[in-house]
Amino acid sequence: MEDYIVIEKLTKQYGDVTAVKGLDLSVRAGEIFGFLGPNGAGKTTTIRMMTTLTKPTSGSVRIGGLDTVRDAEGMKSLIGVVQQHNSLDRDLTVRENMVFHARLRHIGRPERDKRIDELIGYVGLEDHVDKMVDSLSGGMKKRAAVVCALIHRPKVLFLDEPTVGLDAQSRRRLWDLVRRLNLDGTTVFLTTHYIEEAEALCHRVGIMDHGRLIALGTPMELRQKLGMATVELLGENKETNYHYFADRAGATSYVQELSDEEKTIIIRDSNLEDVFVELTGQKVGDA
Ligand SMILES: Nc1ncnc2c1ncn2[C@@H]1O[C@H](COP(=O)(O)OP(=O)(O)OP(=O)(O)O)[C@@H](O)[C@H]1O
Ligand SMILES: [Mg+2]
Repeated sequence: MEDYIVIEKLTKQYGDVTAVKGLDLSVRAGEIFGFLGPNGAGKTTTIRMMTTLTKPTSGSVRIGGLDTVRDAEGMKSLIGVVQQHNSLDRDLTVRENMVFHARLRHIGRPERDKRIDELIGYVGLEDHVDKMVDSLSGGMKKRAAVVCALIHRPKVLFLDEPTVGLDAQSRRRLWDLVRRLNLDGTTVFLTTHYIEEAEALCHRVGIMDHGRLIALGTPMELRQKLGMATVELLGENKETNYHYFADRAGATSYVQELSDEEKTIIIRDSNLEDVFVELTGQKVGDA
C-alpha cells in the first residue's frame, strides 16, 4: 500500500513549549493508525496541523500528495475531522448540523438529503436525527459528529480522542463504526489515551510523549520488542516489579529460580501498557 500521509520533521512551538518536536511519520492508505500518549503529549497539536487547523512552526504534512499549508483548500476535500471537543452546534438538530456541514462543502440539495439519510442509517441515528444535539447521549453526539465529518466522502477520517467519556457499550459501538468505515475504504487516523482502544482498533500505533514519537509499530511488534511474557513480583514494600521475557518458557524458568521469599508472582502476557510504562516511566493518563 502507498504512503498516503507523509509527515516530515513536523514541529510546533507555542512560546517556550515545543508541543511537537521533529515528527517523521508515514501512514498508508487503508490503515487505522493510532497515536497513543498521555495528556499534553502533542497528539491534538499534531492532528490540528494535519487537518489545516493550525500551521506548523516547521516541517510539513502531505496527504494524498497535497501539502496541508500550500494546498490547504484542496486538501480539505480529502479529509474529515472529529475534534476532541464537541464541534456540533448544540442549538441545532442533528439533521440541521449535517445540512450546515454539507453547505460548507458545497453539496447541493438532492445529493445532500440522500447522503444524510444514508449516513444516518450507517451510524444508527434514525430515531434521533430531528432531535436537538443537546438532548443526545455522549455516544450519539460522537456518531453525529462522525456523520458531519463524512458528509463529503473524505479519504481520511481524523478522530481526536473519539471515545473519551463514553460508556463501554457506546465505546464498542464507535469502534465498530470505525472498523466498518475502514473496511469500506476510509483511512483512519485517531488519537487516544486508552491503551485498550489502540490495541483493539489500530493496525499500527505510534506512542507519543513530550512531543516526540518514542515507539512505532503494530501492537504485536511493540509487545514483541518488550517481550511477550511479563512476570510481576511483589517487593518488600509491596511495590510491584516487572520483568519481561521473550516467551512464557523464559518467564517460567526465571520464576523457578526465585527464592521462597519472592513468592507473590504473576505470569501473564505483556500488553501495550507495559510497553508504554517501560518507554515513558509513567502510566498513560498520569501526566
Ligand atoms: N494553543 C495552544 N497554546 C499554547 N500551548 C498549547 C496550545 N495547544 C497546546 N499547547 C501545549 O502543547 C502541549 C501539547 O498539547 P496537546 O493538546 O497537543 O496534547 P494532547 O496529547 O492532545 O493532550 P490531551 O491528551 O490532554 O488531549 C501541551 O503542553 C499544551 O499545553
Ligand atoms: Mg488532545
